[in-house]
Amino acid sequence: MRKLFNIALGLLCLCAASCAPKDPIEKKVDDLLSKMTLREKIGQMNQLSGGYSSIEAAAKGECGSILNCVDPVEINAVQKAAVEQSRLGIPVIASRDVIHGFHTVFPIPLGQAATFDPELVEKGARIAAIEATSYGIKWTFSPMLDIARDSRWGRVAEGSGEDVYLDATMGAAMVRGYQGADTQDPTSMAACIKHFVGYGAAEGGRDYNGVSIPERSLRNTYLPAFKAGVDAGALTLMTSFNENDGIPSTGNKWLLTDVLRNEWGFDGMVVTDWNSAGEMIAHGFAKDLKHSAELSLNAGVDMDMMSFGFIAHLEELVKEGKVSEKDIDRAVRNILRLKFRMGLFENPYVDEQKAGAMDYAPEHLAAAKQAALESAILLKNDENILPLTNKKTILLCGPLADNPYDQMGTWTFDGQKEHTVTPLAALQKDFNVIYEPVLASTRDLSTANLGKVRAAASRADAVVVVVGEEAIMSGEAHSMSDLRLKGAQSQLIEAARQTGKPVVAVIMAGRELTIGGDLKNCDAMLYCFHPGTMGGEALADLLTGRETPSGKLPMTMLVEAGQAPFYYNHNRGGRPCNGTETLLADIPLQAGQTSLGNTTYYLDSGYGPLFPFGYGLSYTEFEIKNVKLDKNSYGKDETVKISYDIANVGKVKGTEVAQLYVHDVVGSVARPVKELKRFARVTLEPGETKTLTFELPVAELAFYGLDMTCKVESGDFKLWVSNDSASGEPVDFEVR
Ligand code: NOJ
Repeated sequence: MRKLFNIALGLLCLCAASCAPKDPIEKKVDDLLSKMTLREKIGQMNQLSGGYSSIEAAAKGECGSILNCVDPVEINAVQKAAVEQSRLGIPVIASRDVIHGFHTVFPIPLGQAATFDPELVEKGARIAAIEATSYGIKWTFSPMLDIARDSRWGRVAEGSGEDVYLDATMGAAMVRGYQGADTQDPTSMAACIKHFVGYGAAEGGRDYNGVSIPERSLRNTYLPAFKAGVDAGALTLMTSFNENDGIPSTGNKWLLTDVLRNEWGFDGMVVTDWNSAGEMIAHGFAKDLKHSAELSLNAGVDMDMMSFGFIAHLEELVKEGKVSEKDIDRAVRNILRLKFRMGLFENPYVDEQKAGAMDYAPEHLAAAKQAALESAILLKNDENILPLTNKKTILLCGPLADNPYDQMGTWTFDGQKEHTVTPLAALQKDFNVIYEPVLASTRDLSTANLGKVRAAASRADAVVVVVGEEAIMSGEAHSMSDLRLKGAQSQLIEAARQTGKPVVAVIMAGRELTIGGDLKNCDAMLYCFHPGTMGGEALADLLTGRETPSGKLPMTMLVEAGQAPFYYNHNRGGRPCNGTETLLADIPLQAGQTSLGNTTYYLDSGYGPLFPFGYGLSYTEFEIKNVKLDKNSYGKDETVKISYDIANVGKVKGTEVAQLYVHDVVGSVARPVKELKRFARVTLEPGETKTLTFELPVAELAFYGLDMTCKVESGDFKLWVSNDSASGEPVDFEVR
């Protein structure tokens, strides 16, 4: 009887499942897939660089996507070939590296991270999508979610820095911004979370280098931002160039199938990085292109960017039984799903007449300026030299004071320097400006013109020196082993110091440089990263005091490059510093081997950073106190409610980023000394105090422990609400 009942129940369930209405997109995908030949399927999995050069392949149904074409006429021509000439009329999807703005260039992503303002970052991505989609670009290779803890790596510029929570928050904001509320909307641009995974941990900061990240660190540190991107709805993901522990990501089945698909349920599309499948041969992981196609397809790759291994070898590999048509169907499903989701079947063409209609629109420029304003970090301001309120004449010097190209930073294929507002152009509206570049470029070693600084400064009330890195000095393949200012830029700051006039150093760079020496030679320093199109206007607002700096360091700032990788959320170690360490200058001659205190520090550069993660000054001062919890003991399904007072105790209005950090005192595996869990930008009038709250579900204290499952472990915790990662007093609580 019972058996019969179970059979009936089973039949009922089966019927319910088959009668359930199928997602209309899935149905369309299945219908189309059932009509495709093997060759047509493989054609969809092939991405080509260029416009007109891809027409022939598109007409034969041998090109699923193009990259690096931004001409709407060309994009439409390729589309016409795909839609009107190929047998099944499947549209191509045009892609581009739209990394920090399209025509209107926003600060580099690392600068955007310094804003601690995800709403603004989302708005920037939305604007980039509006501009780029008007040219027919429907897919961007952004955001880069690689945790980066070593500024020698040139690609730190492209991400959100060293912190897991900040990276995840900014990444999700960008995904939402690019894709918008409705991916069928003509202004929606598919996001691509990249580079999956561990690419930012390149050994020694040398780009493309291998990494060695064990599974627990991957799960606790490198994967969460990707999971956040998937949860935010990212439609695509890119595999990384690097290998981890000998396995290139592009051929890593555990990563691309077990974790991404089976654990996370990602139903988007996976593309390789540029020839990263082919490069598995150079890695010594694949014996030839055919083998690399087999390995990458079987690992879980859907689309091949520029190795041509799929188009050349998949048919043969199916015949030989080395790859199954089922796996090819999986890839093609993911590609077709993307195209349906993006509305490309209904609207394959872009309106050529409207291309660029919104480029540099006033609201786009205003947002880019706001982002540049909020990304500037005030590192020093002796005697409140800034803002330059009583100064009429300034001497403006340095190779980046009027350099419209380089201030846009890396990955700005489409930004036009004619639209850049440089510091020179903007500051002339507020000051009498004497302009002496002194150095021809940031790498100029010549000290011949340094004498001009003294002569010109005699006529000025203050000297503003704009130095840093040219755009080419950061980004892909642009690693650096020495992080000091290049050329004679430090001498330039020193020459400014010798004039006796107040000196303001402005740094525009693609990474955090080691500027400890330069700090000593200036009264104030503003760290602006590469601020983009509106950098000059933002700087003018900050120097005049119309606006107050509020940016915070997204990476620990080093004393010496030799400290890298150095990040605030490291594990404690067995012999942490205790403040009794002896530096070189204080070591007595013939000191005993164990007399210096055996703790973890450098004899020459000490144990601390130059500035901690989350640090940044303002023209006013903020105090955070009365940090209180609603309880001191929580169950695992409860939420910690934290209240704190934040006061503006200075004389001008300003914005502070209140930061919530947590430390899990004892774990089944050692836990970081601090981890950022929440932040809030708070604007206060002088003298104003606000009582605010953070809410932190205990579930967010979960991590992958000894048994490699993700859970909260009972025990003692500490929590800080502070102005940066190194200040504040801990409050204790317990999780039961
Ligand atoms: C290589 C880079 O690693 C990746 O970030 C980029 O999106 C592709 N090239 C396409 O240009």
